[in-house]
Amino acid sequence: MNHSVSLSGQIGRLHLDPVLLNASGPWCTYDEELRPLAASRAGAVVLKSATLEPRHGNPEPRVSCDREAGTSINAVGLANLGYEGHAEQLARLKAEHPDKPFVASLAGLQPEHFAVMARRLGPVADALEINLSCPNIAGKPQLAFDPEASRRVLAEVRSVTTCDLWVKLPPFQDDRLVEQMAGILLETGVQAAVCINSPSGLDLDLETETTAIHPRGGMGGTGGRDVLRVALWNVRQFSLCLGEKVAVIGCGGIESGADVLKHVLCGASAVQVGTTYLMEGPAVFARLEAELAELLQKKGVAQLGVKRGALRVLEAAPEGAWTQNQIRWKDGR
Ligand code: DHB
Repeated sequence: MNHSVSLSGQIGRLHLDPVLLNASGPWCTYDEELRPLAASRAGAVVLKSATLEPRHGNPEPRVSCDREAGTSINAVGLANLGYEGHAEQLARLKAEHPDKPFVASLAGLQPEHFAVMARRLGPVADALEINLSCPNIAGKPQLAFDPEASRRVLAEVRSVTTCDLWVKLPPFQDDRLVEQMAGILLETGVQAAVCINSPSGLDLDLETETTAIHPRGGMGGTGGRDVLRVALWNVRQFSLCLGEKVAVIGCGGIESGADVLKHVLCGASAVQVGTTYLMEGPAVFARLEAELAELLQKKGVAQLGVKRGALRVLEAAPEGAWTQNQIRWKDGR
């Protein structure tokens, strides 16, 4: 560990050190998965999204990883212990790891379920992640794409708990819709936006001409290398709209310390790691921490926070002339 560089940060009331967390989803449902995570260098532990009732989830195989491509796809179907089960689990784990922040994630199958779960989990968690973007419920649109329903759910949850609220958002692809959602987050007084949940996608095996996962016709939430730039767009757009009042937690495509810094430059105050945690397990957090500290030290930076939102935008060429596209080749050739 590199002690000359600080990788700590603050989200609402939570002090995170380092600001590297797991993303809700992989290896965070059962005590056997959460214990090694809590003992790792992750700055906080985020639990699998809870529903009102326990769920077994979709048929297997429901998660597929491609190490070479650095990608994953899943349609787990919200396998979880139910919110009562998660509340008991939190009490157990917090007793074992009193200094580790724990974040419970809520996924209501009906909008009114969120407040029921928040009332119970708010007092036992250090923050609640309100998942408005679960893509794997058959026949249900994601709440985040219904602004009025999102506003109602967040206002209702805000009224039943004083716990810090993080909101897990899907990838947006439209500036105006980002502004609208950012307005709702500012209005309802949440502490953080988590950008992004997994974009919908499809993966397949060319040899056997079969889908990579079984449920939902092989379609699911994708993660890893190919979602990084979509995540960075969302982190940047939301952080520009939210300013200092609501933090942005970046999630998507982080494989290295350099990728963490990319999220931070775009405006992230902390990051979550999904696919790479799925592939490497809890040791990934110590690796990312070491890589990030080394990178910052090389840049002569003592505190990660000074790089937050520090991305410099190239000045545009004057308009009005006919030009050919001047392509910048990143390899310099
Ligand atoms: C699941 C997937 C998600 O992306 C999510 O936000 C919640 C649940 C799932 O399939 O279990």
